[in-house]
Amino acid sequence: MKKIDYSRQFLIDHLALFQCPICKEDFYQVEGNGLVCSQHHRFDLAKKGTLHLLLKGGQNDYDKAMLSSRKSLADTGFFYPILDALSSELPKEGTLLDVGCGEGSHLHYLTDKGLEGVKVGFDISKDAIQLAAVHFFEDAFWCVADLAHSPFASQQFDSILNIFSPSHYQEFERLLKEGGRVYKVVPDPDYLIELRDLLYDERPYNNQQVVDRFKEVYPNSKHKHIRYQVDLTAETFHWLLDMTPLTWGATEVDLERIKKSPLEKITIAVSLLISH
Ligand SMILES: C[S@@+](CC[C@H](N)C(=O)[O-])C[C@H]1O[C@@H](n2cnc3c(N)ncnc32)[C@H](O)[C@@H]1O
Ligand SMILES: [Zn+2]
Repeated sequence: MKKIDYSRQFLIDHLALFQCPICKEDFYQVEGNGLVCSQHHRFDLAKKGTLHLLLKGGQNDYDKAMLSSRKSLADTGFFYPILDALSSELPKEGTLLDVGCGEGSHLHYLTDKGLEGVKVGFDISKDAIQLAAVHFFEDAFWCVADLAHSPFASQQFDSILNIFSPSHYQEFERLLKEGGRVYKVVPDPDYLIELRDLLYDERPYNNQQVVDRFKEVYPNSKHKHIRYQVDLTAETFHWLLDMTPLTWGATEVDLERIKKSPLEKITIAVSLLISH
């Protein structure tokens, strides 16, 4: 079956998951290869089977080169301990939405680890979703969409994944079924600390406000710290430099300097927050 036909069938089977991002009405049918709402707004599948639901051009902080470096690094197992912790917490079935899914590696790994059910990944970056659909088409239904104008219907999701990506708690509450949960991963102060030390003399890094906000919205939340070190090669260090927003504030001179003396180890330290 062609990818677009497979995705069309997904839309037919799961029409209730979506709502029109323009008028917020339900999509009442799949017509041709697209969704149509009662106000006649129409969104078509792309040839590769992805659905583009942005109202205007997406934001592109992450270019294709950065996204492929992120994928290459993810393939080495860089994030596996985080994902293993997530995997042991997530319900294995049900309907899951990966918010800001990037190039799809995390959902792919979680699927390999036994995550079943209906999985939808979306990101505001078209390049990210294209990569996800090229490499991980079978693992989820992939959409280009903006969390601020989310095209998903109310109370349809059992789990929301929110890994290193922005949150919108009011929206999460609307999307989740009764008893559904948010699984959020945020960097702890020591995340990539060795790289931070190389790049910046003084750059306190603290996500405490993000964590506090989560706990304010979900006072009974669970909070797990995950911390480990990864050995780096010259190649993986370069991928790391390419993929992290940390380097966006660095000068070319600094980047050249640290490329000449690559790090051999890096610390990963994150918080896994689970709503209750
Ligand atoms: C640091 S990346 C993390 C990506 C992926 N979850 C990962 O861990 O590899 C943050 C992601 O959030 C996406 N993003 C930012 N604003 C968004 C929005 N309003 N709606 C959907 N995705 C958004 C970005 O395009 C980017 O892919
Ligand atoms: Zn509409």
